[in-house]
Amino acid sequence: MYEQSINDPVPFWTPIAKQFHWEEPWTTLHASNFDRNAGPVSIKWFDGAKTNICYNCLDRHVLNGHGDRVAFFWFGNEPADARTVTYSQMLERVQRFANVLKALGIKKGDTVAIYMPMIVDLVVAMLACARIGAPHSIIFGGFSAEALSERIMDARSSVLVTADGAFRGTKFIDLKSIADTAMEKCKTRGFEVTHCVVSLNSGDKAPHSVNMVQGRDQFFHELEATAELECPALWVDAEDILFLLYTSGSTGRPKGVVHTHGGYMVWTATTFKYTFDYHPSDVYFCTADIGWITGHSYIAYGPLLNCATSVMFEGIPTYPEADRYWAIVEKYKVNSFYTAPTAIRSLQRFGEEMPKRHDLSSLRVLGSVGEPINPEAWIWYHDVIGNKRASVVDTYWQTETGGHVITPLPGCTPMKPGSASLPMFGIVPAILDKAGEELSGKAEGYLVIKQSWPGQMRTVFGNHERFELTYFSQFSGAYCTGDGAHRDEHGYSWITGRTDDVITVSGHRMGTAELESAMTTHPDVAESAIVGVPHEIKGEGIHAYVITNPGVETDVSKEKELKMHIRQEIGAFATPDVIHFTSGLPKTRSGKIMRRILRKIAHYEEDSLGDISTLADPSVVQELIDSRPKLQ
Ligand code: WT7
Repeated sequence: MYEQSINDPVPFWTPIAKQFHWEEPWTTLHASNFDRNAGPVSIKWFDGAKTNICYNCLDRHVLNGHGDRVAFFWFGNEPADARTVTYSQMLERVQRFANVLKALGIKKGDTVAIYMPMIVDLVVAMLACARIGAPHSIIFGGFSAEALSERIMDARSSVLVTADGAFRGTKFIDLKSIADTAMEKCKTRGFEVTHCVVSLNSGDKAPHSVNMVQGRDQFFHELEATAELECPALWVDAEDILFLLYTSGSTGRPKGVVHTHGGYMVWTATTFKYTFDYHPSDVYFCTADIGWITGHSYIAYGPLLNCATSVMFEGIPTYPEADRYWAIVEKYKVNSFYTAPTAIRSLQRFGEEMPKRHDLSSLRVLGSVGEPINPEAWIWYHDVIGNKRASVVDTYWQTETGGHVITPLPGCTPMKPGSASLPMFGIVPAILDKAGEELSGKAEGYLVIKQSWPGQMRTVFGNHERFELTYFSQFSGAYCTGDGAHRDEHGYSWITGRTDDVITVSGHRMGTAELESAMTTHPDVAESAIVGVPHEIKGEGIHAYVITNPGVETDVSKEKELKMHIRQEIGAFATPDVIHFTSGLPKTRSGKIMRRILRKIAHYEEDSLGDISTLADPSVVQELIDSRPKLQ
């Protein structure tokens, strides 16, 4: 199948795509240009076709007689909160909510911001957007008011869908208050969110009642209850925008990654089916948050397109106890389970006793995503969770790739702990050296993809030039992933991590430039440089070098204050692990910070600093070593 997908893409993709409903057929299956010298970079799949991904996720299955199949077993933060929703119930709710959005003035092409916890209303809202051709822009519920407002403004979303709040373990996340602050920030910056729809999730359990602004805020359930039942899916072009999702790069502000209805549909459905070896009646559980791409592709779209039954979980793995995932697996007899290495490592710490409390024998496929998985965690996952029987699929991909691009297929690809193994159908990876020369055989270098695939991002929202510069300028004629990879003698890929200034903390991707600019907005900070450091649980941690303004006391309370500042500017998940006060940074004579040196010092590798003679002031190196905070 792989060979056909590369050599003969038309007969490969045609029957796969024909499983879906296309109101009008495509004229060209695929056309793309990766070469900037030959004209603008452009990527098109199923061009000329009309379809709607929401129709394919819901109506198609209901019309085929599967309306009573469970779409989601939803499980709340409290184990007693459980709900089941079928495909026909989803279809009814989505139609009503699509009518709600229309009544709020949303038309095809208008973006809708969604800032919600992991509740079914979130999926209803996203599919309702898709149904009427309004791109959704989901902002992860862990982002701060500042980050939320920037994303609302960049996408110019005049409608925001949110919730009163959510509990994560015993901690209350006050989503609506954060949303209120964000909407205020937008207003002072000249942009108004005119309607805010609030899902009542925490209700009476919340520490205070929800603040509703007259004329702007309305309750989700009230609007839904009075909306018309029917709202036929709008037929959109295969290449019309389905959603944007902000992600971090090595420079500048986060960018809105754009995916479209047709190609993303075919890609997420196909990768879901093959990577998890999905069969009807399987139960699948992905622990990601829909606020990130994993949740978009593998909680919402991929499973729904396959008419699959999924578990959707609002809580955290350690509440009420650290066996929560395993209890869920046992309760619903989950067959495929998908999580991140950081979660595996943190649950491993609680010992085998936790999983041993439960019958996990239903598990057949175990997925990993978000960062390289260390062999030790891989083996624990395989042996203890999978009872040495389940296949582990280490899925390598990115927000930009829409779905898996390098992954084993269960029962098919021989597994090697720590390797993402072989390319998915239609993916032609290559390893290049610095000069852009392709390396053959066993090699290590920059990972690129040479041909387009259906789920590839199409552009950066509102900035096609940035799209071309970010992904197609370093090496001409290929999509640059930003990751390094090593290819072994069996052709297996081992991802070695980012080659740019992007770090991955607990599977959350962030740009060091973005963290630095957030740090320097603090009035006491003159300059900052941030690097990733190896972290036992989180994969990478954040080491922040900070130069304060003259006269500022650099004590423990200042450290706390700066950490708090980053939480407010970005979100709690971006809190630095180390604040390292210094009077200077290693710069070249032209003023460029030598990050290599900062990394070495933060990694305790000062024995291999390399050449420091080009530094404007080499004495700063010793100061940095001496002032390095003790490891916790
Ligand atoms: C970056 C993309 C893919 C969905 C979640 C993250 C790293 C992702 C793996 C893996 C090694 C991985 C890469 C990639 N990454 N999966 N299996 N092995 N590294 O999406 O936020 O867009 O981050 O995550 O560095 O570039 P994202």
